[in-house]
Amino acid sequence: MMRIFLIGFMGSGKTTLGKAFARAMQLQFIDLDWYIEERFHKTVQELFAERGEEGFREIERRMLHEVGEFEDVIIAAGGGTPCFFDNIQYMNRVGKTVFLDVVPEVLFRRLKIAKSKRPLLAGKDDAELMSFILSALEKRKAFYEQADYRFDAQFLESREQIADSVAAMKNLLDKE
Ligand code: S3P
Repeated sequence: MMRIFLIGFMGSGKTTLGKAFARAMQLQFIDLDWYIEERFHKTVQELFAERGEEGFREIERRMLHEVGEFEDVIIAAGGGTPCFFDNIQYMNRVGKTVFLDVVPEVLFRRLKIAKSKRPLLAGKDDAELMSFILSALEKRKAFYEQADYRFDAQFLESREQIADSVAAMKNLLDKE
């Protein structure tokens, strides 16, 4: 039975790589944010607006425990998921965790064009975005680094790069 959690900062490629890896390995793919949105019939932005970040984190924790029971699955966590409650210990206990490690410059490039749907980034200009990435990464690193594996997810910009990354991740996980 396989249960893999992808963790890492927003824009680190959890969804992109998770989907492609699941397809290649014939696993089910679950994106925790999408799962939450379906269960609550609300977007992540709406949940943040209605309940604040604290309310969102409570929901996120509960939903993590729901998807954490699924089998033969690859789960893309949210960027903040491992950093609240005992979520990282929980993920490490029930599955394997992979930290998608990406340098701030690449995160910035990806998030600059994809910030509107992310309540923690919406409305930030370039300088604010970069300084948010740097300071949040610094705080979150200690959690991300508790993952079983670290994977360089820098190269996900084309089909070929994604296919190569899937193969490299398979290799990493096979090496047990
Ligand atoms: C968050 C990351 C988002 C989402 C929410 C908060 C974070 O997920 O859960 O906007 O705190 O880093 P992605 O990493 O999938 O964007």
